[in-house]
Amino acid sequence: MKLASKLTLAVTCAILAVLATNSFIRVQRELALFDEDMRRDGRILGRAIAGDAERAWSRSGVIDAIDQVLGANEREAHVTIRWVWLDVPPGHPQAPMVPTVTELADDVPLVLEWTPPGEEDTLFSYFPIRGPDGRVAAVELRESRAAERRYIRRTVLQATLATSALVVLAGLVTLGLGMALVGRPVRQLVEHARKVGQGDLSARLALRQQDEIGTLAAEMNAMTERLGRARAELEAETQAKVSAVEQLRHADRLATIGRLSAGIAHEVGTPLNVITGYARLIVDDVPAASPAREHAEIIGQQAHRVAAIVRQLLDFARPRPPAKAHHELGAIVARTVGMLDSIARKRGVQLERPAAIGPAAPAPVEVEVDDGQLQQVITNLVVNAIHASAPGQTVEIGIERGVGAPPPGHGGAPGPRVCVCVRDHGTGMDPEVQARIFDPFFTTKDVGEGTGLGLSVAHGIVREHGGWIEVSSAPGQGSTFRVCLPVAEEGADA
Ligand SMILES: Nc1ncnc2c1ncn2[C@@H]1O[C@H](COP(=O)(O)OP(=O)(O)OP(=O)(O)O)[C@@H](O)[C@H]1O
Ligand SMILES: [Mg+2]
Repeated sequence: MKLASKLTLAVTCAILAVLATNSFIRVQRELALFDEDMRRDGRILGRAIAGDAERAWSRSGVIDAIDQVLGANEREAHVTIRWVWLDVPPGHPQAPMVPTVTELADDVPLVLEWTPPGEEDTLFSYFPIRGPDGRVAAVELRESRAAERRYIRRTVLQATLATSALVVLAGLVTLGLGMALVGRPVRQLVEHARKVGQGDLSARLALRQQDEIGTLAAEMNAMTERLGRARAELEAETQAKVSAVEQLRHADRLATIGRLSAGIAHEVGTPLNVITGYARLIVDDVPAASPAREHAEIIGQQAHRVAAIVRQLLDFARPRPPAKAHHELGAIVARTVGMLDSIARKRGVQLERPAAIGPAAPAPVEVEVDDGQLQQVITNLVVNAIHASAPGQTVEIGIERGVGAPPPGHGGAPGPRVCVCVRDHGTGMDPEVQARIFDPFFTTKDVGEGTGLGLSVAHGIVREHGGWIEVSSAPGQGSTFRVCLPVAEEGADA
């Protein structure tokens, strides 16, 4: 049974008990008063008639006295008044109706209830009349109690109706109040607790009650708030830990691959120089028409390619510290884009420099960077974007400024930053590829097209500058790479 119903039942029972007792006592009292009134009226009337009759008897005889009584009987409609002799045998027409009344004490009226055979209970009153000859008669008053019983029935009915109406009213009011003040808020509390239990910590209770339930709701809201904060902190900590572990793993891998690459580059470098040298000798010595000369030229070209890769490997293995100087970021971007324009056009892709990709319009942005290294980073991003684009598509390169927090695990406080943004509308990447793009030698390109070192080198360079690379991409929807560098407060405001 619900709380509001229990309250209603308890309050209704209590009110019913109080009202029923009160009504019972009131009805009893009214009945006693009614009875008392009836007896008193009878006594007054009987005494008056008996007095008149006694005086008439001694003044002008018993006939006059009896006439007096008969006259009174005609006057009084509600009472039957008779002259009775106490010394006549029962059954005599002037004998008392109540068979037990045979004698009366001097001047003391006798009032008693008696039910004549086949009738309702009736109130009989006898008032003695003493004649001059010493004979005793009496005035008999006979009053039906039907009126009293009607009065009882009416009073009880009224009391029952009033009590029932009050009980129903009190029940309805208690039920309404119980539902509004207890039922509904408790239901909301239960619903809220269920949501919190299911992990929804954004739910809040809006109870404006200034009572215990209101206090409980406020406490539950505060508890949910604290739980939400604790969960967010825990998630952030976990995320930071995962990122830190990932960074460590990455750094570890880079170090191992770096050592390996340095060894290979060293070992491969010398034989390569020999191959290149001998190829040049053959080209110089052999006549121009000879196929051997053409073969030697191919050997030389391929050896140069291998040498370029070895150089890249060495770059990756032994990154040199950036030689930072003040540069205008827009100028570096413009220079790089200009250099790559012909490569893009060859593949039918257009390089665009919109006024702004991000929220803030670019103004000259002074940054402290190694311009050669930064150019290397942007070049790799733009070349990747060109490779991912289909002929006819565009690659946008812009500068964004804003305020933001570095990614988890990177460290550092949120602050102003400037990002070089490279956006293409090409193949995009699925989450698996995205998770590995900064791994050294990870490439999806054909053999000879990419070494898979571009992004890992870029990552290292940007980190050395205190920045980071952000990526957003979806298969078939293109990719956006942002090279973000922290800038000083004045620089951001400029
Ligand atoms: N804009 C892009 N769109 C789709 N995939 C990309 C994009 N940029 C990078 N990738 C993916 O990341 C991989 C790694 O890129 P990364 O620049 O490190 O190496 P690479 O371009 O394959 O070779 P390298 O740059 O050494 O010549 C690419 O092979 C490609 O799968
Ligand atoms: Mg690349």
